[in-house]
Amino acid sequence: MSILIAVSGKGGVGKTVITALMLKAITEEGIEDRAILVIDADPDANLADVLGIPLDVKKTLGYVATEFKKELEKASISEVDKATVLQTRVLEVVQELPKFDFLVMWRTEGEGCYCFVNAVLSNVLEWLMDQYDIILADCEAGLEHFNRRVFKAIDYLVLVTDQSKASFDTVKRVLDVVHEVGIRVRNVGIVVNKFREHYRERVTKLASEIGVEIWGFVPYSEAIEEFMSEARSLMELPRDEAAYVAVKEVLKKKIGIL
Ligand SMILES: Nc1ncnc2c1ncn2[C@@H]1O[C@H](COP(=O)(O)OP(=O)(O)O)[C@@H](O)[C@H]1O
Ligand SMILES: [Mg+2]
Repeated sequence: MSILIAVSGKGGVGKTVITALMLKAITEEGIEDRAILVIDADPDANLADVLGIPLDVKKTLGYVATEFKKELEKASISEVDKATVLQTRVLEVVQELPKFDFLVMWRTEGEGCYCFVNAVLSNVLEWLMDQYDIILADCEAGLEHFNRRVFKAIDYLVLVTDQSKASFDTVKRVLDVVHEVGIRVRNVGIVVNKFREHYRERVTKLASEIGVEIWGFVPYSEAIEEFMSEARSLMELPRDEAAYVAVKEVLKKKIGIL
């Protein structure tokens, strides 16, 4: 049984940072020999940068899907082979790294119907995810496109906010979308990021108005800011950094995988 952890929230609140710190904790402090798949499911993919992995646009699902659709329009692929060819290409997109596998969704381009492509993608990704113990996905707020078809059930939905009302409004919208499109969410919690102690009362109130439990407070970290400015991999963040310790606590106490 695989566990799917999806990280979502308003742009800029720190979804990618939180995803990266979770990955650091799972790979460095978690049980060894668990198969881990990391998915960058945000069309503005930048998780690769934050993890220090070179991003090759051609190695993304969006690229493969767009190219495949063009080929279908030119009818250069026989009817029988269609699904098999696409399946093979999708699996080639998965990068096998020493501690985890990595899949970048990216956006699709051009107009028109991706129905066939999406249907195949959805099947092959479902099969793919079954091969892993833990799947960690950095998602955009709308859970659009592939995400809706791919993530049929989310075990842990981590909704990242900062102290702003707007980021809590987005949390509410994400929950509405998830409900509308029928994604089953087994557990949901808020992680307040870039936290400063004097925000506590206000964010606690905002969370209780939405009715979602706060799973953790991740402090504002100068080290993170610096790492991001210098494009250094967050995997190298010191293990005693308070923000990292807070993320570890969420994985330990609320998600239970450390
Ligand atoms: N805990 C934190 N402390 C300091 N800066 C942070 C923290 N989390 C995120 N940031 C900063 O916020 C910016 C946006 O983070 P990012 O993870 O890219 O957001 P998102 O993926 O939600 O759009 C980054 O430039 C990063 O430096
Ligand atoms: Mg991001």
